[in-house]
Amino acid sequence: MTRAMSGGAKIIDGKALAGRVRTALKDRVQAFEKARGTTPHLVVVLASEDPASAVYVRNKGKACEEVGIRSTQHKLAPTTSAKDLLDLIDKLNRDEDVDGILIQLPLPKQHDEKRVLHAIDPRKDVDGFHPVNAGMLARGDESGLVACTPQGCIRLIEEAGTSIEGKRALVIGRSNIVGRPMAELLLNRSATVSIAHSRTKELPERVRESDILIAAIGKLEMVKGSWIKPGATVIDVGMNKNAEGKLKGDVAFHAAREIAGAITPVPGGVGPMTIAYLLENTMKAAITRRGA
Ligand code: GUN
Repeated sequence: MTRAMSGGAKIIDGKALAGRVRTALKDRVQAFEKARGTTPHLVVVLASEDPASAVYVRNKGKACEEVGIRSTQHKLAPTTSAKDLLDLIDKLNRDEDVDGILIQLPLPKQHDEKRVLHAIDPRKDVDGFHPVNAGMLARGDESGLVACTPQGCIRLIEEAGTSIEGKRALVIGRSNIVGRPMAELLLNRSATVSIAHSRTKELPERVRESDILIAAIGKLEMVKGSWIKPGATVIDVGMNKNAEGKLKGDVAFHAAREIAGAITPVPGGVGPMTIAYLLENTMKAAITRRGA
């Protein structure tokens, strides 16, 4: 963690933290190999021609390689039928040698996303999107597989030295991928949690009363610096391109860092942590299914 040249906020270095998570994981992968005579194996399925998805999938493969997790990529033609994708998932579910299955979203329109995600064996659901895993989390049980980005956000809050218990936390965004599981993780840690969304009234006021802010909206710098509660911990999940094509968050970073106590940058904040927790989930899936 570094202190900003101007402004008071600590900049929470997600890239460095993700590096430390991966280093620790490398040792656990080696110990698993020694004990089990096999390597955790992640399968990533790319079914679209979305260029951003291709970059994400490539980065996931590289991250696996770095920690010694085996990864296989299935690149499907964008015209692949719904049945063929479901058949592939069925085959991967049955394959003893596969520990984790990740279907990169978004999917081309012939696929029913819900049906596809529900078809994955919950024990191999490294995204934590299956209703069994999501339902366990909603009951306060984190022993299943939990969505990667929210796990990364919790670790970033801890890294900032912010205690969660009893704090007012606001999650902006109610997606199944980030907002909802994020709110549940914060609630499990005894924060007083609110969820804001596109219909929320008086959003600046809701932000101003929050000790912990998680912005997962997907709108370029929508949260203004003046909205932030002085000293708050701000976690920015946004990944938006500005007019110059530069990656920017959901929070107006330069203004917010003058007021916040700690803040994640974009890039170099949440993004690397999402991948680190995908690797953690693959390890967890391998241990849970095969035994430590
Ligand atoms: N597309 C964008 N984010 C995600 C994610 O977290 N998991 C998957 N599978 N696809 C995504």
